[in-house]
Amino acid sequence: MLVDTFSVAGKADTTDYKTSKFVYNNTEVEMKDGHAVVTPTHKELEIRISQHAPKTGLMLVGFGGSNGSTLLGGLLANQHNITWERKDGVCNPNFFGSMIESSTVRLGTTHAGEDVYAPFRSLVPFVDPKNPDQFMLGGWDINNDNMYAAMQKAAVLDVTLQHKLRPYMENITPMPSVFDINFVAANQEDRANNVITAEYAKEMLGEEVDTTGRRWYVEVIKAQMRKFKEENNLEKIVVLWTANTECFAPIIEGVNTTEAELLASLKDAEKSKHIAPSSLFAIAAIEEKVTFINGSPQNTLVPGVIEYAVRNRSMIGGDDFKSGQTKMKSVLTDFLVSSGIKPTCIASYNHLGNNDGLNLSSPAQFRSKEITKANVVDDIVASNDILYKRPGEIEKPDHCIVIKYLKYVGDSKRAMDEYTSEIFMRGKNTIVLHNTCEDSLLAAPIIMDMALCGEMLGRLEVREPNGEWENFHPVMNTISFFCKAPRVPDQTPIINALPAQRACLENILRCVAGLPIETNMRLENRVM
Ligand code: NAI
Repeated sequence: MLVDTFSVAGKADTTDYKTSKFVYNNTEVEMKDGHAVVTPTHKELEIRISQHAPKTGLMLVGFGGSNGSTLLGGLLANQHNITWERKDGVCNPNFFGSMIESSTVRLGTTHAGEDVYAPFRSLVPFVDPKNPDQFMLGGWDINNDNMYAAMQKAAVLDVTLQHKLRPYMENITPMPSVFDINFVAANQEDRANNVITAEYAKEMLGEEVDTTGRRWYVEVIKAQMRKFKEENNLEKIVVLWTANTECFAPIIEGVNTTEAELLASLKDAEKSKHIAPSSLFAIAAIEEKVTFINGSPQNTLVPGVIEYAVRNRSMIGGDDFKSGQTKMKSVLTDFLVSSGIKPTCIASYNHLGNNDGLNLSSPAQFRSKEITKANVVDDIVASNDILYKRPGEIEKPDHCIVIKYLKYVGDSKRAMDEYTSEIFMRGKNTIVLHNTCEDSLLAAPIIMDMALCGEMLGRLEVREPNGEWENFHPVMNTISFFCKAPRVPDQTPIINALPAQRACLENILRCVAGLPIETNMRLENRVM
C-alpha cells in the first residue's frame, strides 16, 4: 500500500525545521596481531533540515547536449502536464528513473500484515521539480542552438512531444561558455560557436578585462550565475557539468595540487593552460558558495579544487553519472561477491552513436571514461579476501571496457557484458547481459536527483546534544548512488555497491524523518 504523506507519532516539528534525535550505532575496530577487536559504539545525535525548500535553479554546463535538452524537455512536460501521442497510445509525462520522485521507502506494517510505503521524497522537504515556481533549468553550451533545436538534434524525445515543447523551448538559448579544444576531442571543434570572448566579458563585467591566464573566465562565469539567479528570482543555484568528457588534467606540483597553487596558476598564462574548463566552473561555483557536481568522468575536482571547496565549506560532488552499464555492474558484482561467488573475468562492450560517443572515440577522452568504469568493482572485491586471496598478491578480476562509436544507434547505447565467475568446486558460471540503454533518458532523471539531493544536503545539519549544528562534509559522498566514481573526503573508503549507497541515503533521511533505520530484520515476522 502506498500513502502520499505520513507523520511520526509523538513527533512535532517546528515550521522552520524538521528535527529528530537518534542513536548512531557503529563499531570501532582495532587490529591486534592480525586479530580484530570490535567495540560497538553508540552516539546520541540530533539531525535537522530546514523546512523551506528554496526556489532553485539547476545550471547545466553542456545544457544543449543530449542530456541537457532531454532533461529540459522532460521537466517542462512534467511541469505543464503535456501529453503526447505515439502509435501505442497517449503518453503522460513521468519522472521514472528518478529515485527521489519515483521510488518508495517502507514505513512499516499494519496490524493486518500489510506493508505500507511512502514516496522517497516524503522523507524530507525536497525541492519539488513538478512546480515551476520551485525548480527551473538554465545553463551554458559552446553551441548556440536554441533548446528546441538542441532537442531535435539529440533525437531522444518523441517527435510529437518535441512539437508540443517547441513554444516552451525555442526561446531558451544557452549562455556562452569556456572552450578549450585541448581538453575535448578534435571532432567537437565545429560545435564551438558560443564561447566567452573578451568582448562578452567586458559586457558581463562592465569593464575591460585582462585576458592573461584564466581568472577572467572564472569572473565571467560568476557574473553569469549571479545574473541568472537574479533574473529568475532564485534563492539557490546548483551547477552541474554534463558537457563533453574532458581528458584528465595533469596533476602538477606548483600548478594544481593545492588551493594556493591553483589560485596562483589561474593568473599565469602558461600554468593556467592545465586548468580544464570544467575546473573553472567548479572554482567559480566554490567562490559563489554554489553546489557544484561533476557528471562526467574527468578529474575536474583536482586536489587544489577539493582543498578550496573544503576550506570554503562549499559543496562539491561527482564524478560521472552512474546510469546504465555501470549501475548494473555495481549491483551484479555485489550480488555475486556477497553470495560467495567469485567473479574472475568481466568484459564490457558499448557502442553508441550520440555526440558523447563521438567525443569518446578519441583515446584521451575514452581513457577518462575507462578509469571511472573500471574502478567500480574495486571495493566489492576488496571486501572478500576469502574469494580473492592469493598468497603474496592482491587478486582482482580480469576486467576490460571497450567503447565504440556507431552513429546508426544514436542515443540507444548498447551495452554488452560478460561476467565469468568461479563457483563450487572450480565450476564456472557465465552471465551475459545485453542492455539497450536509451542513454539520455536514463541520465536525465539522475541529473535531476543529483541536483535535488545536492540542494537538500546543503540544508542538512547534525549535532551532538546541545552542541553546534554542523553541515555535512563539503565533499558530498552521500550522493554516491548517482556516481560511477564517487568522490569522498580524504581518508574515507569509497563505496560502489548500489544497495549500500541507497541504504546510506535512505537511512540518513529516515533519521531526519524520525523513522528507525531500515535493518530488514523484521523479527515480528520471524519469531513466535
Ligand atoms: P552531448 O555531447 O550530447 O552533450 C554535451 C554538450 O556539452 C554539447 O552540447 C556540447 O556542445 C557541450 N559542451 C562541450 N564542451 C563544453 C564546454 N566547455 N562548456 C559548455 N558546453 C560544452 O553529451 P551527453 O550525452 O549529453 O553527455 C554529457 C556528458 O555526460 C558526457 O561527458 C558523458 O560522458 C556524461 N555521461 C552521460 C551519461 C549518459 O547516460 N548519458 C552517463 C554518464 C556520463
